[in-house]
Amino acid sequence: MRRVTVPLPDRSYEVVVGNGAIAELVDLVPSSARRVAVVTQPGIPVQFRELGAYLPDHEVRVFEIGVGEQAKTLSTIESLMSGFAGMGLTRNDIVIGVGGGMVTDVAGFAAASWHRGIPVVHVSTSLLGMVDAAIGGKTGVNLPEGKNLVGAFWQPSGVVCDLDALATLPPREMRCGLGEMAKYHFLTGDDLLAMELEERIARCVEIKAEVVASDEREGGRRALLNYGHTLAHALEIATDHDLAHGEAVAIGLIYAAELGREMGRIDDARVQQHVEVVAGEYDLMTRPPDGLDADTLVSLMHRDKKALEGLTFIVDGDDGVEVVTGVDEVPVRAALQRFLA
Ligand code: GLY
Repeated sequence: MRRVTVPLPDRSYEVVVGNGAIAELVDLVPSSARRVAVVTQPGIPVQFRELGAYLPDHEVRVFEIGVGEQAKTLSTIESLMSGFAGMGLTRNDIVIGVGGGMVTDVAGFAAASWHRGIPVVHVSTSLLGMVDAAIGGKTGVNLPEGKNLVGAFWQPSGVVCDLDALATLPPREMRCGLGEMAKYHFLTGDDLLAMELEERIARCVEIKAEVVASDEREGGRRALLNYGHTLAHALEIATDHDLAHGEAVAIGLIYAAELGREMGRIDDARVQQHVEVVAGEYDLMTRPPDGLDADTLVSLMHRDKKALEGLTFIVDGDDGVEVVTGVDEVPVRAALQRFLA
């Protein structure tokens, strides 16, 4: 079992990583809590939903929300709020989100909003959640106009990453987690390939924790966690979400490397390292599906949330990955043309 601290002024918290980590849940729940509102989904393994076994001294109520992005809405938040009111959840009590990234985003936002903010603990049951979504306090829901447009930064009081949950994770969800995990190979000089899964997940959490601690509300450096995401977001929209987020990130990482080469920042060998991680280690797709055109993707990339000033990319280079704003369309299109060929 490994424990990683997310170091924040006054609000540092622990992430417990390992097989059987759920047994540590009780240590993460603030001592003031008497009532526990569990937010989860159908299909989450029963040993992670039935939290009464780990919290015998608490009154535990389970609230199921719908599956999929279409259930990540304000009306889901409203029905959770009615449930919280019905059980008399107070500021001393706690919300526990049990599931993948969608569940922890919704549970976190419900906790951030209830009584203007009560504690939340996340029990992450997907690889993507463990290495990304459950860590760092981004919470929120979608609007018909776009993904994650309504939300809050609301740090959890603790996170459980129980690797037993990965044994039953559907293969596509596992692939999505690997796509998100792949980006960490390029954020530091660490040899993640040399690590076993538990150590590797814990190291990804540690890398994310260090970045979040340096820029909690994404004034700048936190955007590094979006390596590979500029094209990925465009691909998700252009394919009408046929490509899932982690699958698109895997392709976006290869594109980011090719763009880095086009901009003269990295060489062929470094691009090849990206291919070895994404295609070799994780066996993920490195090219987008047929039928996409460069103009559509460029125009979607202009709409990226990071793009405050022209096209913005996270690009690799001699000093590591950096946020680069105002990127010229010429290298962007040149890399894209070769990429789509
Ligand atoms: N998923 C990127 C972040 O938490 O900042």
